[in-house]
Amino acid sequence: MAVVSETAGGPLRLGVLGCSGFARRRMLPAMAAHPRVRVHAVASRSAGRAAVTAAPFRARPVTGYGELLADPALDAVYLPLPAALHAPWVEAALSAGKHVLAEKPLTTDPGQTRTLLARARSLGLVLHENTLFVHHGQHAVVRRLLAEGAIGELRALHAAFTVPAPAPGDIRYAPELGGGCLADIGLYPVRAAVHLLGTRLDVVGAVLSSAPGQRVETSGAALLRRADGVTAQLTFGMEHAYRSRYELWGSEGRITVDRAFTPAADHRPGLLVERADATRTLALPAEDQAVAALTAFADSVHGGKGGADNEADLLAQAELLARIRQAASG
Ligand SMILES: NC(=O)c1ccc[n+]([C@@H]2O[C@H](COP(=O)([O-])OP(=O)(O)OC[C@H]3O[C@@H](n4cnc5c(N)ncnc54)[C@H](OP(=O)(O)O)[C@@H]3O)[C@@H](O)[C@H]2O)c1
Repeated sequence: MAVVSETAGGPLRLGVLGCSGFARRRMLPAMAAHPRVRVHAVASRSAGRAAVTAAPFRARPVTGYGELLADPALDAVYLPLPAALHAPWVEAALSAGKHVLAEKPLTTDPGQTRTLLARARSLGLVLHENTLFVHHGQHAVVRRLLAEGAIGELRALHAAFTVPAPAPGDIRYAPELGGGCLADIGLYPVRAAVHLLGTRLDVVGAVLSSAPGQRVETSGAALLRRADGVTAQLTFGMEHAYRSRYELWGSEGRITVDRAFTPAADHRPGLLVERADATRTLALPAEDQAVAALTAFADSVHGGKGGADNEADLLAQAELLARIRQAASG
């Protein structure tokens, strides 16, 4: 089992598996700024890329992912590889005794997700999926408003995450790397449905479409339903104008959260609460959800339980993504 240096008082020593764009842009700076995490090593398939990426963080550059996992000084690895490579490398990292923070989607198959979570638990190792938005405090405020009846009885969720087309050759266009907008982008509104409506959701119908010449789906929609009739209408796509937003419709009002899934660290949320008698905007403080996700990971490692902190939600999300694909093809 991994030696957890944080429990001995020092920061968690992290190794990064792959010099991904998102890692360089968002996670490595968040790690460097986090008092409970240290970037210890950075691995790439290319020695040059490892050296360039590791240098600003004074981390050890490593050529090859297996080489990095063999480093006994590492407590944990962050895994920002293409989706189809997550499962084998999560398995390898767990087998090497490391806690794992894996990029979303944790795997591309609910069976694999279930197996890896069980394996992590049996080894006493933490396995988190790096879905950042659930760690932002604004959604806890939304849940509290719902529980307090701020919009009466909940009737429906409308959630949308759409982004402009990635550059040609991006991993998201490659089916063999687990590309396509369902797992990459659709995951967010699906997770919002689980986060806000609970894990017991059915897929009523779904559509996945590919832009001409593409080998993966580039846009989609799904209708989910809870047993009490509450619905979730989800829209996602990766050849669209940007939108990142959800609305909760109740018997007496509506809550709207804009920039719901990828707010910048300095974004100060304004939750819109509309009722027939009054409309108010709840101003919340800015929060860096990447830092919050790292804190949750460090807390889990510190807690020593293994597995994920929100396993039921993670499994429900994985199942729903698979059932949406099934519904769209049937
Ligand atoms: N949590 C979030 O908010 C968020 C946001 C964006 C992306 N992500 C996730 O982060 C992961 C990476 O996304 P990205 O946009 O950063 O991708 P990217 O820039 O293409 O990076 C992927 C990295 O994987 C490594 N790799 C290994 N085998 C590869 C192969 N056969 N083809 C391409 N790359 C390969 C490469 O690192 P080396 O060449 O250095 O080995 C590459 O830099 C995905 O799972 C994505 O869903 C998460």
